[in-house]
Amino acid sequence: MPAITASASAKLILLGEHAVVYGHPAIAIPFSDMRLHVTVEPAILAKPGSLRVISTDMQSDQLFYEMSDDQPIKQMIILLLEYLGIKSIPSCTLRISSQIPLGAGFGSSAALAVGIMRALSAFLGHSLAEKELDQLAYQSEQFIHGRLSGIDTTVIAWEQAIYYQRGHAVEVLKPLNTLHFVIADSGERTPTVQSVAYLAMRLEREETIIKPRFHEIEKQVITAKHALHIGDQQMLGEAMNQNQNILVDLGLSSPMLGKLVSAAREAGALGAKLSGGGQGGALIALTKTETQAELAEALISAGAANVWTTDLPGNQLSFPSSLRRTIP
Ligand code: MEV
Repeated sequence: MPAITASASAKLILLGEHAVVYGHPAIAIPFSDMRLHVTVEPAILAKPGSLRVISTDMQSDQLFYEMSDDQPIKQMIILLLEYLGIKSIPSCTLRISSQIPLGAGFGSSAALAVGIMRALSAFLGHSLAEKELDQLAYQSEQFIHGRLSGIDTTVIAWEQAIYYQRGHAVEVLKPLNTLHFVIADSGERTPTVQSVAYLAMRLEREETIIKPRFHEIEKQVITAKHALHIGDQQMLGEAMNQNQNILVDLGLSSPMLGKLVSAAREAGALGAKLSGGGQGGALIALTKTETQAELAEALISAGAANVWTTDLPGNQLSFPSSLRRTIP
């Protein structure tokens, strides 16, 4: 059995995070320059059926059977083997290395699930289609994190820009023009599960205030989708800014994210907002190509822990009919 290497990208939520958990639409894009890699290689000298998992980022080296049942990687592997109907596997070593910061809104856990399932299934001779990867990775995310919308695993499994709403077919988005972004890590960390739980608590106590905000977010997401199609970047940036205002009102931003958003707008961003779970983590800023480098500098000066530039290519994305899965 030859060694297999597979990878999964990070993701960014362009608009609509949190409201998407409650059935509203959101837009997500892959962050293809930031990746997680998984290599599976045969372990010829190891005991039969032994699976070793080495994670360079978490500095861990464990045998599968010694892992506790609540370890996410163990759950991901169990789910995959059950799905494939495989009871015993050839001895192998699974090596994980990732450029994706943990718990910062970049979808590190969804990328881990997709990456592991993609590599291990190929190693076992049962390569999975994107749709299967998406569903399995989502199941593992639910097991680990509880209530989530599924947008992270879908955008990562398909690695395409998507318009996502539970209960509806996923739409691949084809922006008319290439979009230029600057991404920053605020350096602050709140697990997504925690910010989702915070909003759930607020929703319970202040339903009449919070629910209308979700409807406003939905309108912004629809505007952004239209802006992407017609290539109106001003309109897209404005929708992002308005989305950020609501996220601030919902208590999902943070002082550092607020500072970075202001710095981005002062440096010419067409739109800037938090991305993902919030209360720290990632910022996404839409920019013109000529101000991209300057904006990145401005975010570093304002205190960002890390900054990246990335582009979403215009009008080159196909629309595979197989992506028309309906989200339960
Ligand atoms: C996380 O990337 C986006 C959230 O809306 C959670 C989810 O949709 O599962 C905060």
